Parts: sequence; structure tokens; C-alpha cells
Amino acid sequence: MEPILEVKDLSISFTQYGRGTKQVLLPVIRDLSLTIAPGQVVAVVGSSGSGKSLLAHGILGILPYNSHMAGEITFLGQPLTPKRAEKVRGKEIVLVPQGVTYLDPLMKVGPQIRKGRWDQSARQASRAVLERYGLGADTEERYPFELSGGMARRVLIATAAAETPKLVIADEPTPGLDARSAKRVLGHFREMADSGAGVLLITHDLELALTIADRVAVFYAGETVEEANAADFTAGKLRHPYTRALWNALPQNGFVPIPGAQPGPGEVGEGCPFAPRCPKQQPECLGPVPYREWDGGLVHCLDPEGGE
Ligand SMILES: Nc1ncnc2c1ncn2[C@@H]1O[C@H](COP(=O)(O)OP(=O)(O)O)[C@@H](O)[C@H]1O
Ligand SMILES: [Mg+2]
Repeated sequence: MEPILEVKDLSISFTQYGRGTKQVLLPVIRDLSLTIAPGQVVAVVGSSGSGKSLLAHGILGILPYNSHMAGEITFLGQPLTPKRAEKVRGKEIVLVPQGVTYLDPLMKVGPQIRKGRWDQSARQASRAVLERYGLGADTEERYPFELSGGMARRVLIATAAAETPKLVIADEPTPGLDARSAKRVLGHFREMADSGAGVLLITHDLELALTIADRVAVFYAGETVEEANAADFTAGKLRHPYTRALWNALPQNGFVPIPGAQPGPGEVGEGCPFAPRCPKQQPECLGPVPYREWDGGLVHCLDPEGGE
């Protein structure tokens, strides 16, 4: 089946001013590749500052003016040029944004979902989509400040789902929600995939991602360190030392902390960005590290677990 989204060798950097008027290019995402098939939930898991939101904004063509993007993005078999991105944004490709502040605080929920359409069928459609997400018809008349956190999240999802998109990008859709509401919100994304859409789920929460994802890409300092089937994670087949460390840091796996901190943009050399914190570090890790195909996935490590 033709993939919904293909991202190949994507890099994103920012122009910043150094000393005086000298411009410096600050790389944030490097050589990222990712494929989403119809019906698939692909999770991108990474800690704060690893470049997750930039990836979403890069696909949508809404990066800030001082940024540069290189690489290829293909949507439904055609290049996703800035012009095409603008055309499909909010329709075939929707973003469920990171913050509920994306809702217009001065506009009632109903008109936000209908996006300016007032006819009877638009009204029926917005009621139906609210109902689908467990929100009563009275929600239409509320302003965003009158919604609880969980309701606001569901309104954002309803706004996205109202367009029957081909690709849904969810940027950290669960923070601030209790475990039950978070599971419910993720369940809605699973449903969208089950009805044929591709879902890119961006999160820092590996455990939660695994409850709905088909594939997982683990992101560290702007690089994919590992990409694998979600089932491999639950089976304990983790290849990259960072993925392993992330797994061991989960409460149910012993809460083992990872010493050190993720390097920021501009602090990464040509070698592996995790090397300074890696228990398996070798001198070669400071040089270029190729991606390797590994058991139905990819790993970005010279000495992955399970190797000979
Ligand atoms: N407009 C910008 N100019 C310069 N650097 C930026 C800009 N936006 C984001 N960054 C940097 O890019 C990195 C990744 O940001 P982001 O994608 O928001 O991370 P995440 O969503 O994974 O928390 C951060 O270190 C941030 O400082
Ligand atoms: Mg973010």
C-alpha cells in the first residue's frame, strides 16, 4: 500500500546571530527518516527539546522564518511542497497542537469546529463530531475558558477529526490529563488510524505511546536513534542504549535515572549524540555512525544490543 507520509533525510536548522553580525547555522534535526502507512500509528518518542514539535511544523510547512529545511517529504506519493502543504493543511493533514491555547479564546467552540460554515449540515456535523468525543451539544455554546483540560483536548481532537483527514499529527496530546483521560484521548487516535488515516503521535511518554502505536521512532537530540515495531519494545527487544535507558527509567522498570543531559542544538558533533552518556561508549562513537537495518527496524549505533 502506498504510504501516507514519507520523510527522507530531513534536516532543520536555524539561523542565529553569533558575535557581532556573524550568522551561525544551528542544526536542530539531522537526517531524519520516517514512513507512515494507512492505518498506522507511528509514535515519535523523545524528551523535551529533542526537536519533536519542529518535525511536526516542518511537515505542515509552518516553521518560523529563520529556519531552513532540507530533505524530502512525500504525502500520498507526491512531494509535499510549501504550496501543497498550505493547501492540505487543516484539511487532509491536521495538527492536534501541543497546547490548548491554540483554541481561540474569544470564539465559542461550535464556530471553531465549523470554521466559518453556518449551514444546517455544518451544524449537524459539528454536533456529531462532539458527540463522538463524549461532548454534549451544549459544548458548542461554550468559550474555551469554560472547558476543563480534558474537554479542551477533546475539542481540539474533534476540530481535527471534523475534516476527515488522511494524516493526523498529534503533538503531545496528553500532558496534564490523568491516566484514564490520557488513555481515552489516545484511543481516539487509534480509532482514526483504524478507519484508514495515518497518525503521527508525538510524545515524551514511551509507555503511553506503546499502548496504541504500531511503530515507534525514538528521537534523541534531533536524531532517530532507533525505529522498530512497537511489539519489540514490549518484548524487551531494545537495540539502542538510549532506548534501553529510557525503558529502564519507567516507573515499573525500576526508575533507573540516566546520568547527564541531552545536548542542545549546536552541541552535537558528527558522532553519536548519546555517546557521552552511554555505558557502551567506544572511541569510534565520536566519528560518523551509520544507520543499520535491524530486525524490521533501524538502529543508529555501532554496538546495538542483540548484536554478535
Ligand atoms: N525559533 C527557534 N529558533 C531557534 N531555536 C529554536 C526555535 N524553535 C525551537 N528551537 C530549538 O529547537 C529545539 C527543539 O525544539 P522543539 O521541536 O520545540 O522540541 P520538543 O518539541 O521536542 O520539546 C529546542 O532546543 C529549541 O531550543
Ligand atoms: Mg514540543
